[in-house]
Amino acid sequence: MKNTVVIGAQWGDEGKAKITDLLAEQADLIIRYQGGCNAGHTVCTNGKTYKFHLIPSGILYDKTVCFIGAGTVIHPESFERELNELKAEGVDFKNLKISPLASITMPYHIEIDGYSEAHAGKGKIGTTKRGIGPTYTDKMGRCGFKIQDLYSFEALNEKLDLILPLKNKMLKHVYGLEGYSKECIISLCETYAKLFKPYVCFDWQDMLNRYKDRTILFEGAQGVMLDVDYGTYPFVTSSNPIGGGAAVGSGYGPAMIQEVIGVSKAYVTRVGEGPFVTELNDETGEKIQRIGREFGVTTGRPRRCGWFDSVIMKYAVLVGGITKVALTKIDVFDTFDEIKICTAYKDCRNDRVYTTYPTDVFIHKYLEPIYETMPGWKTSLSDIRNYEDLPDNAKKYIAKVEDLIGAPIGIISVGPDREQTIFLPEKR
Ligand code: GDP
Ligand code: IMO
Ligand code: MG
Repeated sequence: MKNTVVIGAQWGDEGKAKITDLLAEQADLIIRYQGGCNAGHTVCTNGKTYKFHLIPSGILYDKTVCFIGAGTVIHPESFERELNELKAEGVDFKNLKISPLASITMPYHIEIDGYSEAHAGKGKIGTTKRGIGPTYTDKMGRCGFKIQDLYSFEALNEKLDLILPLKNKMLKHVYGLEGYSKECIISLCETYAKLFKPYVCFDWQDMLNRYKDRTILFEGAQGVMLDVDYGTYPFVTSSNPIGGGAAVGSGYGPAMIQEVIGVSKAYVTRVGEGPFVTELNDETGEKIQRIGREFGVTTGRPRRCGWFDSVIMKYAVLVGGITKVALTKIDVFDTFDEIKICTAYKDCRNDRVYTTYPTDVFIHKYLEPIYETMPGWKTSLSDIRNYEDLPDNAKKYIAKVEDLIGAPIGIISVGPDREQTIFLPEKR
């Protein structure tokens, strides 16, 4: 396998974890490079379902080293909970490693996230309330804590003197929240240091050098349309889920990346606020939600559902650097008479047609999707394992999507299980 990045091509929850787990067998090192416990990743195999948030979905393989990279943010209490839940499922963590450069989500980051969401009115983003935005804000504002600080009293002490006075002023006067004493943060950090100790990879530079000539899988969280630079800003997360994010957040440079697999559902879902041109607020939307079991892994919120949107997918191929697509949940359409694909948007104010993605999201309320309708296949795809055995209408649907998005589809997923996967031949 080439060194591969797995990214979400839509607004998250595309089935990235299933694809990561599937490819993990061929990888020697898996690196999660951005995001934090806002992610909810599901892997179904051997009759068991595993839920991951921060821990790389490749951890189920014995021989694969899983590295949580510098671009991630880690909330210690959530990390501990995830570890304990997975340990109860029999998962082993001997291969888990954490970058000393990863950022720490402090208790006040969670409080600020909650406060901001509660007081934002119409500007609410619908975050996962996991402190993601405030942690990345502090990282970029150069007043955050990194895992390595936990193991240096000098760094912690100096940083607290630099950061805490202003942070406390903001907590009190802007947010009306309690401040934190230096002693309290030091005591928290001692607890965190013990929690992370077995996993922190202080010799990460040697490790990355050792794996340079082996097979590396980069695991993305969220999706291109939630990217802080390219997504539906401001209704986005605070990191870079695009393929390029892997080079920033992993410790390897861009030349190490040989393939970017963009994972996309055969329809679109979104959790939280923000524009969504093909959203269906009708029976069809409910049907997709019911059959696709579209409820968030992290927050349990129902996911908004709509038809496949080739305008955003073409955009994701471009800015995400996608070289190959994995199309998931195609089985959700097994009972559908007709399946729609959005080929362009029309601005209802002036009939202007967009075939490339308009990045000003404040005009999206005026956009109407233009659809092409395909006939359904009206049979179950769940047990099919070869492209040749797919019904003609499913093959036509795949070809149409491929044609519209301008990238080859390499993998089709016909069910949640690891086995329910079809690798497509290049020549069909
Ligand atoms: P991720 O965040 O991209 O890893 O995706 P999630 O785990 O949040 O959500 C994807 C959901 O779809 C999970 O419940 C998966 O088990 C499920 N899933 C993945 N691929 C398929 C598929 O091809 N068909 C069906 N029916 N479910 C799938
Ligand atoms: P995975 O990796 C779907 C969404 C939130 C919200 C916005 C900002 O499972 O695909 P944040 O808490 O990150 O500040 O929230 O981003 N969001 C996700 N939506 N899947 C995810 O992760 C998400 N992570 C964040 O719902 O709209
Ligand atoms: Mg998810």
